Amino acid sequence: MTNNTPIFCAVDTNDKNKALKLCGHIADLDIGIKLGLEFFNSFGPQGVKEIQDQYPNTPIFLDLKYHDIPNTVAGAIRAVTNIVQPAYLNIHAAGGRSMMTAAKEACPDGVKLLAVTILTSLNKEEITEVGYQSDVSFQVQQMAKLTKDCGLDGVVCSSHEIEIIRISCGEDFALMVPGIRPAGSDKGDQQRTMTPKDAMDKGATHLVIGRPITKANDPAQAAKDILTALS
Ligand code: C5P
Repeated sequence: MTNNTPIFCAVDTNDKNKALKLCGHIADLDIGIKLGLEFFNSFGPQGVKEIQDQYPNTPIFLDLKYHDIPNTVAGAIRAVTNIVQPAYLNIHAAGGRSMMTAAKEACPDGVKLLAVTILTSLNKEEITEVGYQSDVSFQVQQMAKLTKDCGLDGVVCSSHEIEIIRISCGEDFALMVPGIRPAGSDKGDQQRTMTPKDAMDKGATHLVIGRPITKANDPAQAAKDILTALS
């Protein structure tokens, strides 16, 4: 199992046993897990370490989206990676060049650092309201290019931004994409979804997939079916 695992299963829960159980279902597959703020704020880095210790072959994407001054973000990254070594960790590109550079320097070898460009939950009005002037696609490209220039390993982006970022940032750049739904599965609250195969064909390197696996009657089979659809 490697950092090239194509799928990270989003484990959005504050129930550690549930998270451990899910890891058990997918432990034998080439699938990682994404743990975010809900889990981290419930159990801290020690909770993440517990999962890593129990399932050392399952790569972890620690989705904490740090956004603060350079010194603070660098310190946070050193603190968390002293306890747990995720395969991927992320920050906000809006923190700017100094922050991203400091974050990358603080990140140990072996932990890949991604940046969030613009949260895809923001609609056009909200984007204008917070003061971004340019159109979203231009803004996302600018932030992705800056992310690459600062030496980070990639970005988290929506499936609809895959192609423009791939063109702007070239091949050697990870694109971690949520909002993915296997053909025929329930969209839940996701508005604009894409199938795993379409997203990978467009140039995604990794997919974040939660409920289609976690809510399935047989999560291991659901995960296997997704891997099969990609092969
Ligand atoms: O269950 P589902 O597949 O919709 O989960 C997607 C995961 O990706 C969730 O953890 C969600 O918070 C995260 N995410 C997202 N859209 C973004 C960024 C992150 O759905 N733009």
